[in-house]
Amino acid sequence: MSAPSIVARRLALVKPSASIAAKARADALRAAGKQIVDFSVGEPDFPTPAHIVAAGVAALTGGQTRYTASPGTLPLRQAIAKKLERENDLHYSPSEIVVGAGAKHIIFNAFEASLNEGDEVLVPAPYWVSYPDMALINGGTPRIIDCPASAGFKLTPEALEAAITPRTKWLVLNSPNNPTGAVYTQDELQRLGEVLLRHPQVWVMTDEIYEHFSYGDARCHSIVATVPALRDRALVVNGVSKSYAMTGWRIGYGAGPEALIKAITLLIMQSTTCATAAAQAAATVALEGPQDCVAQASRLFERRRDRLYQQLGAIDGIACDLPPGAFYIFASVAGLIGRRTPAGLVLKTDRDVFDYLIDEAGVVTVDGTSYGLSPYLRFSFATSEDQIDRGCEAITRAVALLTLN
Ligand SMILES: Cc1ncc(COP(=O)(O)O)c(C=O)c1O
Repeated sequence: MSAPSIVARRLALVKPSASIAAKARADALRAAGKQIVDFSVGEPDFPTPAHIVAAGVAALTGGQTRYTASPGTLPLRQAIAKKLERENDLHYSPSEIVVGAGAKHIIFNAFEASLNEGDEVLVPAPYWVSYPDMALINGGTPRIIDCPASAGFKLTPEALEAAITPRTKWLVLNSPNNPTGAVYTQDELQRLGEVLLRHPQVWVMTDEIYEHFSYGDARCHSIVATVPALRDRALVVNGVSKSYAMTGWRIGYGAGPEALIKAITLLIMQSTTCATAAAQAAATVALEGPQDCVAQASRLFERRRDRLYQQLGAIDGIACDLPPGAFYIFASVAGLIGRRTPAGLVLKTDRDVFDYLIDEAGVVTVDGTSYGLSPYLRFSFATSEDQIDRGCEAITRAVALLTLN
């Protein structure tokens, strides 16, 4: 008899993150000497602003090298409370806020703290790759709600109403959205909120990590500020990763009712103890210091978005809309499906197109299948204009080599 596996059975359900896997593939090809344009990145390509780095260094040299309180330092939680008030019209006290090693850590712990076996988590698709897997690891059952391009990739009140069952525990909302860049208007949030108010068993997790990246007339609103009656069953998730180019510092936070915040804190206490002390000090300065770095980043991303959109949209077989938020274009590659590569392979799925673009063009994207909608590819424009130009030229050349079947 063979020895039982060391790996827990529940992990059989879990996939690696597609975006992290795509980035690893780009890094490996680059290390092997191949010229690569990487559109898979989910993080700003510029450094953390100098005044925030200086605050982190000062914290280290000043002796902030020990454990902190498990929910996060009081100065950071106070800074978060002020930020939520100032920017989001949300009112939380420090005891209703918990800090973790990234927004991802907060989402994971929120599921672990709240899901009983078989509880359902509603995930509108296209979704950030990690939500369904994080729900699954923690005993939940993800229920995917399709939100096609014709609906602006957004959840409608009707689709939400139809998906809710007595087992529904959470609705996950992400605006601005990864991977589509969709941004919900206040009116749309109001109507979704009205559905939720009819179903008191359902909590809403609102992931606002891309809040500062909305373009043109689009503005990020929190469903909790729009429908305050949801406050008692909502978790606002945010962090400093994207807004302040601090992905490697690993600081995110959740704000919600004390019972949930305490449960998440308990898990942090028994797993990581707390987030890194110096990173918390730097995040405090990020939230309390000058905010022009955020506006600058947003303007930079808007220019890059326009450039990528113009060039991608001009490629035969690729179709996309101008995304109002985040730093991604979710482009349809339906027009490439069925075409034949020079090696004689017929492109049947977006995964085939993804592979073809890596092999033929040296361009790394992420396949739409991993985000719950195909045939699409996600292109990040958190990369330089030069990379955008070179990547689109390489894709154009690779697409020109395809033949119609
Ligand atoms: C929608 C969404 N939420 C959360 C995160 C995680 O952010 P953090 O770096 O704070 O863990 C990401 C990162 O890609 C994201 O795209």
